[in-house]
Amino acid sequence: MPIASRIDEVRSIVRRVRGNGDSVGLVPTMGALHEGHSALLRRARQTDDFVVVSIFVNPTQFGPSDDFEKYPRQLEKDAAVAEELGVDLVFAPTAEEMYSPDSCTYVEVGELTEELCGAFRPGHFRGVATVVSKLFNIVSPDRAYFGQKDYQQLLVIERMIRDLDMPVEIVACPTVREADGLAISSRNEYLTPEQRSAAPAIYQALQKGAEAVRGGASAKEAEAMVAAHIENEPLLELQYARAVDPHTLAEPGSAGPPILLAVAAFAGDTRLIDNIVVEE
Ligand code: PAF
Repeated sequence: MPIASRIDEVRSIVRRVRGNGDSVGLVPTMGALHEGHSALLRRARQTDDFVVVSIFVNPTQFGPSDDFEKYPRQLEKDAAVAEELGVDLVFAPTAEEMYSPDSCTYVEVGELTEELCGAFRPGHFRGVATVVSKLFNIVSPDRAYFGQKDYQQLLVIERMIRDLDMPVEIVACPTVREADGLAISSRNEYLTPEQRSAAPAIYQALQKGAEAVRGGASAKEAEAMVAAHIENEPLLELQYARAVDPHTLAEPGSAGPPILLAVAAFAGDTRLIDNIVVEE
């Protein structure tokens, strides 16, 4: 399995693959591959002839107080996981390969990026949309695979490809959870044992909220219920608990499902996010 670090290498490999009439699937990641990524890669392996995983800790999506420096980097281990899962190509560029020093073009996706996480992480989704556009231009995949754990990211990318007519099909894959419900994330490895024990309260809170919505609670009532459950856990600090329209991320137009319940909370310095969509 080749590991390419240069854009022109990837382009020439993909050109050859396409010449054979094979389809190309891309799983964009920042590395530190875990079970959530494995599920995306397995899904891609089932669907596409040629599977590419990109591994790039993208500086433009981290704010000044985010964890860019300490974000786990483990290319050798990741390459072994990718190989095991039957990936055909790893694309692991340097920051210099991806961004020239005078790079000044960004992709901005409007209102969707101002809600939820976007309200607390200015510039984050601009960085995500920009790097994902670049990856699409480099790899030109038929399909790209994203996890529903990053619900807002998924929505932003779906909107971007629609608005900019990008010829890529987005495949959304369900959140993978630990046995106690904690959504699997590369950031879970920062948690102390005590924080790790406290963290499943986030999913429990979402489940309580979802149950309340199904039982007729309003969005505001569900939000309050989710918030109260998390605030009850001393090792978690709630950033937001919102119940919104799953398509627009705005206040729901009417009572009842569909509703997206979304949470961000800190365990120490580690920011954890999770969500549940209560379907109609
Ligand atoms: O979800 C992620 O890991 C990143 O935001 C992504 C999509 C790879 C872009 O850097």
